[in-house]
Amino acid sequence: MQTRLLTRNIDEVDAESLVVLCFEKADAQAPLMPELVRTANERTNGWIAEIYQTGEFAGKPFEMALLHRPAGLPAKRLLAIGCGSQEKFTAADLRKITGAALRSLKARASRDICIALDSAFASPEFVSAAVEGAILGDFEPDQRKTDPKKTEKAVDTFSLVIPNANGSVTESAFNRGVLLAESQNFARALVNEPANVLTPSQLAESARAMAAEQGLECEILDRARMAELGMGALLAVAQGSTQPPALIILRYRPSRDTSGVHLGLVGKGVTFDSGGISIKPSEGMEKMKYDMAGAAAVLGAMRAIAQLKPSIQVTALVPTVENMVSGSSQRPGDIITSLSGKTIEVLNTDAEGRLILADAITYASRLGCTHLVDAATLTGAIVVALGHIHVGAFTNDEAFLERVLGAARMEGEKMWPMPLDDDYKDYLKSAFADIPNVGGRWGGAITAAMFLKEFVEDKPWVHLDIAGTAWLDDAKPFMSKGPSGVGVRTLAQLAASW
Ligand code: BES
Ligand code: ZN
Ligand code: ZN
Repeated sequence: MQTRLLTRNIDEVDAESLVVLCFEKADAQAPLMPELVRTANERTNGWIAEIYQTGEFAGKPFEMALLHRPAGLPAKRLLAIGCGSQEKFTAADLRKITGAALRSLKARASRDICIALDSAFASPEFVSAAVEGAILGDFEPDQRKTDPKKTEKAVDTFSLVIPNANGSVTESAFNRGVLLAESQNFARALVNEPANVLTPSQLAESARAMAAEQGLECEILDRARMAELGMGALLAVAQGSTQPPALIILRYRPSRDTSGVHLGLVGKGVTFDSGGISIKPSEGMEKMKYDMAGAAAVLGAMRAIAQLKPSIQVTALVPTVENMVSGSSQRPGDIITSLSGKTIEVLNTDAEGRLILADAITYASRLGCTHLVDAATLTGAIVVALGHIHVGAFTNDEAFLERVLGAARMEGEKMWPMPLDDDYKDYLKSAFADIPNVGGRWGGAITAAMFLKEFVEDKPWVHLDIAGTAWLDDAKPFMSKGPSGVGVRTLAQLAASW
């Protein structure tokens, strides 16, 4: 899908479909009707006023009305989409609205879609969000379906028209939105790949190719190198699979670095999590291909960072393995030695994410990272705590967490702070090793974070548990079902805004 930014009036837009944003309570005479809607209303002899008056349309979020061959406009179709309250309308709302408009028109075989944005909503934040929503809405997870009807419904062109756009500011906001959303879709495509296709080696190859394209440095540690370094925790998870593990390292270096900040982004890359010997129930196990969504979020963010060119150094570390059941799998009761030197009693082989992250986090410190953020589909317990709405955010440094949450708010990604007091340490006691890999029955998301905290030492660190938010079980009006790509925009914005 091509994207374009246009500066012209809507009666000069000859797109196949033109979309105007309509708000609640904006009846025919209402002063609330934005200028653009008023123009569309005039050119269509009062069609918009009429749909409000007849009660067919009230401007509620995602409500839609479609007019074919609007007499006074060159567009072939005019779509009025409801946006809810105009006073409360945010960039995050706009992101969803443009996504929903695109998806609805795409389902009606429209290939050339133009969304008009009133000057009241043409700030950089809104402009980025508008184009992001459209690109995110365009993503489909059914690339492996062979049905040819599918391609008949692809959108060729998406345009955002802003009659009085403020030149270069608007343009750079638009370009920023394009690169962020494309990076998010890059992450979603990785998550969507089945585990037979996206093995750890394939994930490493995808990262290498992306790095080459974007001008990032790439280094991939193989099993032998990791053994030499002593990454016993990561290797213990990998040992049950015929697929070799990898530690993917991507580096972004700013042209002029004055801050001394070196951000480390660590992403859980379990390409399939069967649970290992502590095997998962078969129902729903197919979804465990998304256990590398943290890795994908970090790689997607690096793709965006390469283009946004922030002024701090950023290094991505992605440990990637397949957690399988075999004669060579690790067993419950095994005691392994991590890169940090700490010994770990493996009480449950299904708590594998924290094992691979532990070694990657230790290695991040050795590479000189001053701040760390990890993203991981780490626990089912975070889904119990926060459902599928918020990412769980844990930290050892409140100020750093505030910075991450600020970036998340800016990008419309919902994250919620979780506790991590030292009192929880009591939940992680082993009689035989320094630390067990699981706590007791309660507070599972917190004990998982507590485990990771043991490996970060004293650096500011934020852990994002995305197990509940990385995958949509049902489609939304603005997004397909499947991988959400959560985390990409927040991590990119975190680096970009430093
Ligand atoms: N990958 C899972 C967590 C997960 C669960 C992700 C649901 C997405 C959806 C993780 O490796 C895991 O299995 N965690 C266990 C930990 C337990 C053994 C302490 C869990 O959450 O059940
Ligand atoms: Zn697991
Ligand atoms: Zn897992």
